[in-house]
Amino acid sequence: MPRARVVKVDPLRPDEGVIEEAAGVLRSGGLVAFPTETVYGLGADAFNTEAVYRVFRVKRRPLDNPLIVHVSSLEMLHRVATGVPDWVTRALSVAWPGPLTVVLRRSPSLPAVVSGGLDTVAVRCPAHPVALRLIEALGRPVAAPSANIAGRPSPTRAEHVVEDLGGEVDMILDAGETFFGIESTVVDVLSPRPRVLRPGPLGPEELEKVFGTRVDVPPYARGVESFAERPPSPGLKYRHYAPGRRLVLVERGSCDDSSYLEFLVRVLESRSQETPALLASNETSEEVERRLGEAVVYLKMGSRENPFEIARNLFGSLRSLDRCDRVSIAFSEAIEERGIGLAVMNRLRKASSERVVCA
Ligand code: TXA
Ligand code: MG
Repeated sequence: MPRARVVKVDPLRPDEGVIEEAAGVLRSGGLVAFPTETVYGLGADAFNTEAVYRVFRVKRRPLDNPLIVHVSSLEMLHRVATGVPDWVTRALSVAWPGPLTVVLRRSPSLPAVVSGGLDTVAVRCPAHPVALRLIEALGRPVAAPSANIAGRPSPTRAEHVVEDLGGEVDMILDAGETFFGIESTVVDVLSPRPRVLRPGPLGPEELEKVFGTRVDVPPYARGVESFAERPPSPGLKYRHYAPGRRLVLVERGSCDDSSYLEFLVRVLESRSQETPALLASNETSEEVERRLGEAVVYLKMGSRENPFEIARNLFGSLRSLDRCDRVSIAFSEAIEERGIGLAVMNRLRKASSERVVCA
């Protein structure tokens, strides 16, 4: 398979020549992987039905799981969505560009395949100079799911895109590591009160400020409920972010910090024959290391004091788990479900094959 052209680009001041070339690829129906502030996206001209079908094909994504449409302005939103309520426009004028995706009524002129056949559409305006300039240069909305093979962790570096899709996209814009490392917050704004479909960098606390109203955070947003069919968001019925290894999430239950640590140590100890891996905060990793030393492989995700750091390293850690040859089982620490921590726990619950609860 021919390799995609990988072109390095400055994340803050992207070279205009490179942006023009990428826009040209999209204009002629090609696929371009590009950085956003959340994760890398796999972009196609949203109005080119053939190109959009190709996105589903190369990602091996089921056709009923809709894509997010990326716009560069509030004006462009009206080319893909209709009947946008005023309170939503007001909120978006505050939150955009940024990691907030809203689900609205799909404009009849937007190809239905983008929305997996639904009459709604998910739209966002990314806060990454490369993504914004690319959409502006094309002058049209860009349909873009995360640039990974369906079910794999989302890519936070161009290398991850190459790993998954290198042979099947036309161009990859490499602007280094993405800022948040976790996908945008998806909010259904078609009901009277905004409802979180997928938690992300904007936590419920920030959303309430943005919308000026209470927002619903249903159990599936935490990742504690799964669906066989007809979920509120099609993505909810598919397993996500799964590493190739057995991953066990160690839930906190009602344990306090010190009994949780004891429990974690005991669980790891019981598996020490298998050299288990531990995905955890730096602080927890260091505590466990003092107790169990080299019996465990440590994948440190960042300081417990900085959940943004943990979020940014999460998908990379899940990918590196796959490269740990001597590891057959991994355990993950549970973090506090506040702010971006809600999104981290949602992704961990979806990535894990099993869960144990501290008792
Ligand atoms: O941060 C992000 O959102 C990244 C970057 C590239 O922008 N994109 C991303 O797209 O994560 P994707 O396709 O991997 O995830 C889109 C999510 C899926 O869970 C999908 O089910 C949901 O949004 N979604 C899309 N359209 C929807 C709709 N009309 N109604 C409900 N959920 C929708
Ligand atoms: Mg995705």
